Parts: sequence; structure tokens; C-alpha cells
Amino acid sequence: MAEKIAIVLAAGEGKRIKSDVAKVLHPLCGVPILHHVLNRLTHLRFARIFVIVGHQAQQVRESVALYDVTCVLQSEQRGTGHAVLQAQNALSGVNGSVLIVNGDAPLLSDETIMHLWETHHLKKETVTLLTALLPSAAGYGRIIRDDNGNICNVVESADATPEELRVHEINAGAYVVDLSFLFPTLSTLTSHNQQNEIYLTDIVRAAVQKGISISYYQTPSTSESLGINSRRDLARAEAVLQQHIVDGWMDKGVTIIDPNAVRIEATVTIGRDVVLYPGVILEGHTHIGSGTVLYPCRIRDSHLAERVVVRDSCVIDGADIASDVSVGPFAHLRPGTQLHSKSHVGNFVEIKKSKLGAGSKANHLSYIGDADIGKNVNIGAGTITCNYDGIQKHQTRIDDDAFIGSGTQLVAPVHVGVGTVIGAGSTVTKDVPPQTLAIARARQTHLPKRPKRP
Ligand code: UD1
Ligand code: CA
Repeated sequence: MAEKIAIVLAAGEGKRIKSDVAKVLHPLCGVPILHHVLNRLTHLRFARIFVIVGHQAQQVRESVALYDVTCVLQSEQRGTGHAVLQAQNALSGVNGSVLIVNGDAPLLSDETIMHLWETHHLKKETVTLLTALLPSAAGYGRIIRDDNGNICNVVESADATPEELRVHEINAGAYVVDLSFLFPTLSTLTSHNQQNEIYLTDIVRAAVQKGISISYYQTPSTSESLGINSRRDLARAEAVLQQHIVDGWMDKGVTIIDPNAVRIEATVTIGRDVVLYPGVILEGHTHIGSGTVLYPCRIRDSHLAERVVVRDSCVIDGADIASDVSVGPFAHLRPGTQLHSKSHVGNFVEIKKSKLGAGSKANHLSYIGDADIGKNVNIGAGTITCNYDGIQKHQTRIDDDAFIGSGTQLVAPVHVGVGTVIGAGSTVTKDVPPQTLAIARARQTHLPKRPKRP
């Protein structure tokens, strides 16, 4: 089969989304709209992918930097036909056909793109369209057929007659077109239409005028052709994709007690026998190991190993949590937190850039920042690592089997040795040797009570 080439249209501003951010960069289930499209094409092994950029070109280029794609600039956004034309030089001398897809169509499936591509190539067609039958076709280009049922035109909503607006078959915004037809034809198109744009879709009428018949693949799905133009479309797409994601994880052995009450971004992975209670939000590059139970919490860019329990109202961001750990309720784990196996973090504990060794516990009301804590350490209620002197952050080191009494302040830099006990209420400012009992608090004195005023 011919080399697979694709052009992705991503230069438009997306006026209808009313945003300072280019439309194709808006996240959908945590991933920019455009990346969903590029992921499909990469997965389908398109060898050369051209992304047409224009509005906020620099931001779009940066966003796709990790993909093996070539960005082509459309300096003025004069319509989808004009956008495709920008790839003409890059493709000069290339034979065969090219897939063209809107960068705002993130729900198209691999199967649909493959069917479209194969429909075109099996019959050696010139132009093949992806169409869909929608109950509500508002806003889409309508597929107009002649008396014999052959496609003869695509009419944009803005240009359509009332009769054409009643058509339910729409242009889904993906096409395969023979290169020897595409660029010569695009060069002849005008912008005599309501939007004063050069429409890619006008190649259909141009082909028919030349006696070339139009082929098509109609997807049976009513949701995957969704093009994102507005915030409402974005929310609709989010709902559709969430449903796919949630169904996918349930099929892989995850218990989701109320599938409508969790949010799982597209980049998250989840092991078997995980239980998700209502109110769980999983974001970014997060992995949840098998057998883990999550009560309502938000977890982002974190790795949780097996059989972890996270109780209600925790926020976990950038943490690495080993097996059999329990966290929460009401814990805040910030980037750089490492909890080793069987450690416990309880209520109202905040941890940042710190390691809590295997079997260690910080169960109540603590702040632990920039600390390296060994195994089987007990951090008493209300312990605080005073890691910041107003200018710099300093390290606290607590070795294995130490016991930090409640209400202790560890003024960093400070090192507490193996097996040491710190008396409750201490303010520790000096290193404490191993196997020591350290008490650093004012001695309690008892003074005679002042007599009451008469
Ligand atoms: C387009 C189709 C319409 C189809 C719908 C499917 C045209 C003329 N119309 O309409 O038939 O039903 O998609 O969702 O193609 N873009 C550029 N440069 C431009 C203009 C647009 O790169 O100058 C990009 C946009 O960033 C977007 C894509 O092309 O990703 C489609 O543009 P958009 O304005 O959203 O077209 P629609 O009106 O939705
Ligand atoms: Ca669109």
C-alpha cells in the first residue's frame, strides 16, 4: 500500500470557543484536542504528517514538538481549502493520496479512519469523504446527493437553503484525496460564500463538474464525528470520551461504583481489582496499581503501587506511593513525595519533596517538607519540619526507628539519629545522636498564683 500521508488542519482561531487559547489546544480528558487526532494517526502508522498551523502558531508548534510531524504555516486563516493548499510545496512530486482531517475532530476512531482510507484505496478513488447521519446536524456541512443518490456537493450551514438544512447526512471533516487532483483543484477555488473563505469542501463540486464521482464511508457512530467548535461541544466530547474511558477500565477489571461520578483522564492507567468510589478524579500521568481502593480524592501525575488505600478528600500530586500504604483522610501529598511500603499518612498531613520510609507513620496534623525519613519512624501529631528560613530550604533527616514526640518542631538542617526519641513539644535545632532521648523545651515551672483582686 502507498505511503500513508496526512494533513491535519489546526490553524483556525476557533472564534466560537471564545478563548485566549487556540481551540485545538484545549484539553479534552486532559489531552489537547489536537493530540487526540495525532495519536490516532501515529497509531495508524501515518508515515508523514503535516500539521497546518496559523493562529497561535508558536504555541501549537510547541505543543506538538514531541510528535514526528512537520508544521506548515498558514499565515492568514482564509479557510480550510486555503489551509490545505499550504502543504502543496511540501508535497510536490509526491504521488498517491493524502488523508486530510480537521484538527478539531478528536473522537474519530482508528477503525473509522482506516475504513475511510481503505474505501478510497480499494476502489482507487479520487475523493472519498467521511460522512455521518446525525439526528441534529446543526452547524455541519451537509452532504447533498443527486437523484441517483450520488454525492454532488457539500454545503456549509451558513450557505445552505432551508431544504438543504433538513439533510441529516453531514461531512465529518475527514477526507482522502488523490494528490494529482487535490492541489490543482484547490488553486481554482474561490471564496464566494457567506464566510468569505476558501472551502476545502468545494473540491466535491469541482470534482463532480469534471465528471469525477465522489466516494464515501459513512460511520455508523453518531458521536465520533463531533467537531469541537464551542464550549458546549467540548463538554459533549468530554462526556463521550469519559464514557469510553470508564467502560474501558471496567472491561479490564476495575470496579467503578458510579461511572458517572468519577473522572479519569486519557493518560491514566489502572490495574485490576482497583475500586473507585464516587468522587475520584485521576489526572495526568497517573498509575493506580492493582487492588488499590480510592475514596473521593484528586490524584495527578502520581504512581500508586498495589493495595494502596486513599481515604476521603486527599489531594495527591507528583507522588510515588509504594504498596500497602494508607493515605488520608484529608492528606495533601505534593510533588516529590515518596511513601515507601506499609507507611501511613493520616489526617491533615502535608508532605512535600520528602521520603517516608517503609512502615513509618505520620498520622495526624503534620507538615513534612524536604525530609528524608527512614524506616519504622513514628512522627507524632503536630510535628513540623521547619524547612524554610525565609531564603533557603533546608533538609531534615530522621533515621530508622526514631520516635518524634507530638508537637515537635525540627528546625532544618537537622539530623535525628537511629532509634532516637524526641520528647513531645521539643524544638530541635541541633543534630541528635543515635539512640538518644532528646528533650528541647522550656522546663515547666510552678509559681505561686497571684491573689485575686478584691
Ligand atoms: C468544517 C467543514 C464542514 C464540516 C465540519 C466538520 C469546511 C469548509 N467545512 O466546518 O463541512 O461539517 O468541519 O466538523 O471545511 N482551519 C484552518 N485554517 C483555516 C480555517 C480552519 O486550519 O483557515 C482548521 C481549524 O483549525 C479546524 C478545521 O480547519 O481544525 C475546521 O475548521 P472549522 O472552522 O472548525 O470548520 P467548520 O465550520 O467546523
Ligand atoms: Ca469545526
